[in-house]
Amino acid sequence: MKVLVAGATGALGKQLVPKLAAHGHEVVGMTRSESKREAILDLGATPAVADALDAEQVARVVAEVEPEVIVHELTALSGDFDLRHFDRTFAETNRLRTEATDHLLAAGRAVGVKRFVAQSYAGWPAERTGGPVKSEDDPLDPAPPEAVRSTLEAIRYLESAVTGADWTEGVVLRYGGFYGPGTNFAPEGGEMVETVRKRKFPVVGSGAGVWSFVHIEDAADATVAAIEHGRRGIYNIVDDEPAPVAEWLPAAASAVGAPPPRHLPRWLGRMLAGEAVTVMMTEVRGASNAKAKRELGWKPKHPSWREGFGQVVA
Ligand SMILES: NC(=O)c1ccc[n+]([C@@H]2O[C@H](COP(=O)([O-])OP(=O)(O)OC[C@H]3O[C@@H](n4cnc5c(N)ncnc54)[C@H](OP(=O)(O)O)[C@@H]3O)[C@@H](O)[C@H]2O)c1
Repeated sequence: MKVLVAGATGALGKQLVPKLAAHGHEVVGMTRSESKREAILDLGATPAVADALDAEQVARVVAEVEPEVIVHELTALSGDFDLRHFDRTFAETNRLRTEATDHLLAAGRAVGVKRFVAQSYAGWPAERTGGPVKSEDDPLDPAPPEAVRSTLEAIRYLESAVTGADWTEGVVLRYGGFYGPGTNFAPEGGEMVETVRKRKFPVVGSGAGVWSFVHIEDAADATVAAIEHGRRGIYNIVDDEPAPVAEWLPAAASAVGAPPPRHLPRWLGRMLAGEAVTVMMTEVRGASNAKAKRELGWKPKHPSWREGFGQVVA
């Protein structure tokens, strides 16, 4: 198939493009930068330069390429990662999840794409009541902390725009937290590894917030499966072991050779990092991958972060 990957130069894109090429697909990789053309060619794709926030540029590229599938893996999170001001940190990513989604959908509709695959997030956006692990059928958080409201709205927007596009097969992949090459949990340049090493990532309060992770290569494999035969709907792309912060954070520290994380009482966590971070440390829910396994025929090669973290930094 002819596949246009928006976000081909990102952590996920770099894994995804060579896998698609190896499966015999003709891939066009989108970037904003002329200077990244060569890198995209090296990944096995034809480069196309466009700003996803510019409707005309997107329409031009999509009309030229005439892809059968469009993949939306856009994000804008480089620079200061200030979780206290979560919505500010995610402001441009939220535009990519709303405006760029609209541009890609409109352009895709004009050329009649058969499938549209877009990223979302598994974990903290889910409701914070009931069991610790949520399926795709469970509702999103109806009353999120104030600092994450715009970000959750953007996620909600993307998910409903894509699955509601009845002229194509609209597939949403809710990835767990990425780890592995090119992500923030990687030995070189991985911000999270550095933060854990410096003991600047404490367990807050009970540490009962449940997180789901996925190795970036497994996320790319699931994306290939979704591109090839995903049916309209939402799929959690996470590993087999959602786990509370109080469990995975000490294991992550041990994997990177750091002393165990510090513990902060909830009130101090709230004071230093804000309500949203405190909620993520204490109340959020993890995600189940049962549907993705069943319907995409995908299985993570790294079934648990427990071994995966160590393998990545080894
Ligand atoms: N990191 C996680 O744990 C996680 C978890 C769940 C979901 N996700 C989502 O999964 C997707 C892939 O994440 P990632 O870590 O691979 O992202 P990444 O490494 O930050 O890559 C971002 C990509 O977006 C492109 N991009 C940004 N702004 C653009 C614009 N205006 N026009 C065109 N391209 C633009 C960049 O291309 P150029 O710089 O080449 O222009 C780059 O290829 C993202 O949508 C992210 O939100 C991530």
